[in-house]
Amino acid sequence: METSAKGEGVGKVEKVEFDASEIEYVSYGGEHHLPLIMNLVDQELSEPYSIFTYRYFVYLWPQLSFLAFHEGKCVGTVVCKMGEHRSTFRGYIAMLVVIKPYRGRGIATELVSRSIKVMMESGCEEVTLEAEVTNKGALALYGRLGFIRAKRLFHYYLNGVDAFRLKLLFPQPELHPSLPMMVDKDDSHKHGDHRHSVE
Ligand SMILES: CC(C)(COP(=O)(O)OP(=O)(O)OC[C@H]1O[C@@H](n2cnc3c(N)ncnc32)[C@H](O)[C@@H]1OP(=O)(O)O)[C@@H](O)C(=O)NCCC(=O)NCCS
Repeated sequence: METSAKGEGVGKVEKVEFDASEIEYVSYGGEHHLPLIMNLVDQELSEPYSIFTYRYFVYLWPQLSFLAFHEGKCVGTVVCKMGEHRSTFRGYIAMLVVIKPYRGRGIATELVSRSIKVMMESGCEEVTLEAEVTNKGALALYGRLGFIRAKRLFHYYLNGVDAFRLKLLFPQPELHPSLPMMVDKDDSHKHGDHRHSVE
């Protein structure tokens, strides 16, 4: 999903002075976090989601959603899921937002990295998402993290804009023995929830 980002607006964005160490990252901790996530996504992404959509993600995969706080204020969030898709077990990044005054300081990178780490530890082989072809910031961010543009989805968004399907493939140690061991060898906790497929 990851609907298109809302326009940057005409006003100048006041940046907030802060040290990166002052940002606290927490995984979804319950119903009190839900309005914080909803407010951020409603503010920054163009298409409204119903509360059921949010609940679907955070109730089933609370360990994959993270919030970033600065002095008690929620300034960023990522919402994800994972499941079987065709022959793979894969993660999916549904929403990612950092509010404007806090952008450009690595908060989105940290949020996404935390979700991806949990996906890897859970046995995912890849991670996907969709991003608007015009969303330079998101495309640059995911490109830096190693995502490739797997597909172009024509008129994907309600506003008629195309999307790229972005994909990050995890190294498979059994296929590439020379690669660093990025995935956990212990299979005992893998594939925790197979009830819902991705997409
Ligand atoms: C996209 C978004 C989440 C990035 O958040 P952020 O905290 O500023 O991202 P980071 O600071 O972690 O950026 C990491 C890298 O991404 C790239 N990047 C991020 N925003 C960028 C922008 N506006 N233009 C160009 N590159 C950008 C840069 O390479 C950056 O690294 P650098 O600062 O060392 O150059 C934020 O701009 C946002 O919330 N946008 C609106 C919602 C949205 O588009 N969500 C994604 C939908 S797919």
